[in-house]
Amino acid sequence: MNWDAAAAEKGGYDSFMEKEINDQPDAVGQTLLGRSDIKGNLVLDELRIDESILRSVDKIVVLACGTSAYAGQVAKYAIEHWCRIPTEVELSHEFRYRDPIVNEKTLVVAISQSGETMDTLMAVRYAREQGAKVVAICNTNGSTIPRESDAVLYTHAGPEIAVASTKAFLAQITAAYLLGLYLAQLRGNKYRDEINAVMADLAEIPAKIQTVLDNADKIKQLGTEMSQAKSVLFLGRHVGFPVAMEGALKLKELAYIHAEGFAAGELKHGPIALIEEGQPVVVVMPSSSARDSLHAKVVSNVQEIRARGAVTIVIAEEGDTSVEAYSEHVFYVPATPTLLAPLLTTVPLQIFALALASAKGYDVDQPRNLAKSVTVE
Ligand code: AGP
Repeated sequence: MNWDAAAAEKGGYDSFMEKEINDQPDAVGQTLLGRSDIKGNLVLDELRIDESILRSVDKIVVLACGTSAYAGQVAKYAIEHWCRIPTEVELSHEFRYRDPIVNEKTLVVAISQSGETMDTLMAVRYAREQGAKVVAICNTNGSTIPRESDAVLYTHAGPEIAVASTKAFLAQITAAYLLGLYLAQLRGNKYRDEINAVMADLAEIPAKIQTVLDNADKIKQLGTEMSQAKSVLFLGRHVGFPVAMEGALKLKELAYIHAEGFAAGELKHGPIALIEEGQPVVVVMPSSSARDSLHAKVVSNVQEIRARGAVTIVIAEEGDTSVEAYSEHVFYVPATPTLLAPLLTTVPLQIFALALASAKGYDVDQPRNLAKSVTVE
């Protein structure tokens, strides 16, 4: 491991989780470092898979579990938009039991912070037996999954000690964006200036995350005030949907309360029956510059649940005042392009879960029943 002992200390924070949430600007910045050559071409030199094979890929399958699977779901939106390659996100433990269609034209992307998750390792072995090439996105140098993959894209988030993943999640999304941009460059889906424009947007993300961290007092306060909540729902749409799922998982893992993430469009198909007076609902708003009037649809979702008594807690882009009238609480994040928004909208949800669990007096670094790496199937 190329980690120094100091990096594995709490750095003056009350918990490793709090430290790692605050490490996120650096985790994203370090993962982006050194990825372009002097001409502005994207260079992923760890990605030692023959370019002709990458050009022939006709399907991408992301294999992961838990938070890493939600990173894969975010990546799916970006990779399909940039590369026009069909991208499936599969829970590793489900993948090989569904008789999947995998062959030499399938590129498997195995996302794992620890690189030791047995479910994902077994799925990787199965996919390779079927002829697929495997790229690992991993945060732990020399771990098993990268060793058993054809190539690896390391995230440089540094040691993640807390069981609940935070900085590794943002670094995984960042690495998946880099992979998508690299494939788009290699296959000619994007011109260099288009790729450089996205890279320039990504370069601004660390500072934007820091802005969220510097303005976290209100969301921390809300988490503390809601320590007696018995259930919290999370809604999101488009790339906000996996963010909602991740926000719910953080609350389950840390505060041991019922929390569920839904696609906002799913409300009318059942979940709206859960809405009653006082039910806390966190809503991850799409950017108002998002496509297909997604934003307007989620505004009406907020209105619908508020009309039924929900306590609406909204994560929105700076300047988006459209939902203020229907929100009990609004937390703003800096404006950023739609596909990159999860790198910002996730952070208030992490802080909320940490504050609520801390107010309950729980051990946020070592939650009950959980291990940092699940090395059994
Ligand atoms: C995330 O907070 C959890 N600790 C868990 O869901 C984790 O993401 C999952 O077990 C996958 O772990 P990995 O990334 O090390 O493969």
